[in-house]
Amino acid sequence: MSLSFEGRVVLVTGAGGGLGREYALAFAQRGASVVVNDLGADTKGGGKSSAAADKVVEEIRAKGGKAVANYDSVEDGEKLIQSALDAFGRIDVVVNNAGILRDRSFARTSDLDWDLIQRVHLRGSFLVTRAAWNHMKNQKFGRIIMTASAAGIYGNFGQANYSAAKLGLVGLANTLAIEGRKYNVHCNTIAPVAGSRLTETIMPPDLVAALKPEYVAPLVLWLCHEQCQESGGLFEVGAGWIGKLRWERTQGCTVRQKNQPATPEAVRDQWDKICDFTDATKPANAQESLQSFMMVLSQVESGEINANPAAAPAASVSGINPAVAVGHKIPPSTFDFTHTQCILYALGVGMSTKDPDHLRFLYEGHPDFSCLPTFAVIPSMAAMMDGGLSSVPGLSIDVTRILHGEQYLELYRPLPTSGKLVSEATIADVLDKGSGAVILLDVNTYSSGELVCFNQFTVFVVGAGGFGGRRTSEKAKAPLPPPKRAPDAVVVDATTRDQAALYRLSGDWNPLHIDPSFAAMGGFKAPILHGLCSFGFAARHVLKHFADNDPSRFKAIKVRFAKPVLPGQSLQTEMWKEGDRIHIQCKVKETDAVVLAGAYVDLHGASGASPESLTQGEGLQSDLVFAEIGRRVKDLGSELVKKVNAVFGWEITKDGKNAAQWTIDLKNGSGSVQKGPFRGKADVTFTVADEDFMEVVQGKINPQKAFFSGKLKVRGNIMLSQKLEVILKDYAKL
Ligand code: NAI
Repeated sequence: MSLSFEGRVVLVTGAGGGLGREYALAFAQRGASVVVNDLGADTKGGGKSSAAADKVVEEIRAKGGKAVANYDSVEDGEKLIQSALDAFGRIDVVVNNAGILRDRSFARTSDLDWDLIQRVHLRGSFLVTRAAWNHMKNQKFGRIIMTASAAGIYGNFGQANYSAAKLGLVGLANTLAIEGRKYNVHCNTIAPVAGSRLTETIMPPDLVAALKPEYVAPLVLWLCHEQCQESGGLFEVGAGWIGKLRWERTQGCTVRQKNQPATPEAVRDQWDKICDFTDATKPANAQESLQSFMMVLSQVESGEINANPAAAPAASVSGINPAVAVGHKIPPSTFDFTHTQCILYALGVGMSTKDPDHLRFLYEGHPDFSCLPTFAVIPSMAAMMDGGLSSVPGLSIDVTRILHGEQYLELYRPLPTSGKLVSEATIADVLDKGSGAVILLDVNTYSSGELVCFNQFTVFVVGAGGFGGRRTSEKAKAPLPPPKRAPDAVVVDATTRDQAALYRLSGDWNPLHIDPSFAAMGGFKAPILHGLCSFGFAARHVLKHFADNDPSRFKAIKVRFAKPVLPGQSLQTEMWKEGDRIHIQCKVKETDAVVLAGAYVDLHGASGASPESLTQGEGLQSDLVFAEIGRRVKDLGSELVKKVNAVFGWEITKDGKNAAQWTIDLKNGSGSVQKGPFRGKADVTFTVADEDFMEVVQGKINPQKAFFSGKLKVRGNIMLSQKLEVILKDYAKL
């Protein structure tokens, strides 16, 4: 359907020539009744003549269109609108187009040069539009065009007066768009490029001829049509091309911290960051703009921002400097707690009295009252929340751009249910991932001087990469993919609408999880659940399903936070048992999106990843190592088979008795590791006590030494033990 203006009354100012004439003709051709306004002045605003407007009116009428002329200056805004009302009884569209030029270098700009330009362009548009405004509001329809210019948007030598007026019109239009919205009164701005008498003095003649005003008119007509819902837009248009403009803002940088004066030095030191458009945002309105200031206020107040450049001299120059940052210890933080925090945390990760099994975590009077193992992340959070990260020399990062990427937690003993825990955090490594930086933060937590747990936070800092660091680290606890088979167990558990509101009381106060406007700024449609809350859900699913809710069986957990969860969604935890490692994958049931990936829980009992942290007396310690070797053989089997080409038998003794037999086959197929009586022939067989085996594995004694001391008995091809050493040594380094 073609766009008709039948029944509409359109006023075009300065329509006696150039662009205005073209608009007037185009509107009239599509059925509009047009008021052709033109003062008939010269390009500098001098003189007056009715000829220009009359000529255009004649043209329109000759083609069967409806038009009247008006010869007033736009400075008499009311009169122009009155002409429309007198001739056609209403006013629907105002195209503010009239304009003059008084170009001068700034030093030579006179008061008159300045005032005339403001009067015609800015004040004229204001007066004409104001005269039309109430008519439009009352009839609940109106379309207004402001005419700006590239000179205003970008600046242009010799056009200070004109630039000021033209960009002033953009500001005027922005507010009219807001005030007019609920009355269906829309206001848009164009910055045209066309050959006209205004441009013929600055453009070569063939360009003036080529850039026809008729290439601009279609945009004006569309923006003024009732079907067009655009308002507050700014468009560059010419030569038949149309583009829309908007504001862009750098991520910026907070240069202030709590209880410290803001200094110009801090501004200087962060200048590159303040002006860096990487990952720029596009605030679309004043609210969006203001929200970031509100966020900074709250972050500074909560101590999340530590921007004192004096505290980070190396960082202030180069952003991230791993050589300075790695190994840095953040001052210890102390966490005092009672059973209240344990219970609050358990509720936060979805425990409920509906499940009788949960009571031991929810009731301090329960005979087995315990703290959930994953509560161990809470004391160590303090190291990050207190602004610790941004005070590290060599780590000049924007804490507003931090994402929690992964978490590893290992417990060395069950957590107490009250007391004082001291956490010591160290920057373990800083990696350069190109698009961002990854900070590995290792936190050891002690109770009365004894190590209780270890946390590794993997923190991604968006946009902070490119400093020339390494991409990977041997210190990183890597996520592991789940086995490629159906899960052994699946648990679905609903989070509540208030899950995040409850979880945050355990100490993660980031407004992203409660304040809709903060969430919107982060690009989320609503506040999201804490990653560590889903982590808590998944961990307790494993604990219940595979360890009878016994916290002492819980050894370690690793997760990668893949996607956000909204409070109220259901978490579906899929679990695969591989020895005592339980692989997990957590999804949002409603969307099937994976939210925790590459995750696993290690339980005490038969398997684990780190021999150093084993507790005594639970099964055989060597089982853990064989399980681990088994995993490696699965990954690298063919490679190892090529290198080693032998079958190793192991007899593990405990208290002088035969306790287990293992076969490491690195000869056949792609290799295997199996527990149970020997099948087939081993090239070499070792007999060793469980505890001595651990010493060998941990590199405390080498196999030769163990052999000569009689701890290790060998049958078969003893030379092959050298090859074995390679495998064990590698493992000891893991
Ligand atoms: P133009 O000079 O052909 O048209 C302007 C018209 O406004 C003239 O007919 C003039 O008599 C009339 N006028 C001047 N003062 C008036 C007043 N006080 N009251 C009523 N009418 C008055 O120039 P052109 O190029 O068609 O310009 C139209 C608009 O587009 C102007 O606002 C101009 O600043 C703007 N513009 C044009 C560009 C171009 O490349 N042609 C570039 C950027 C902006």
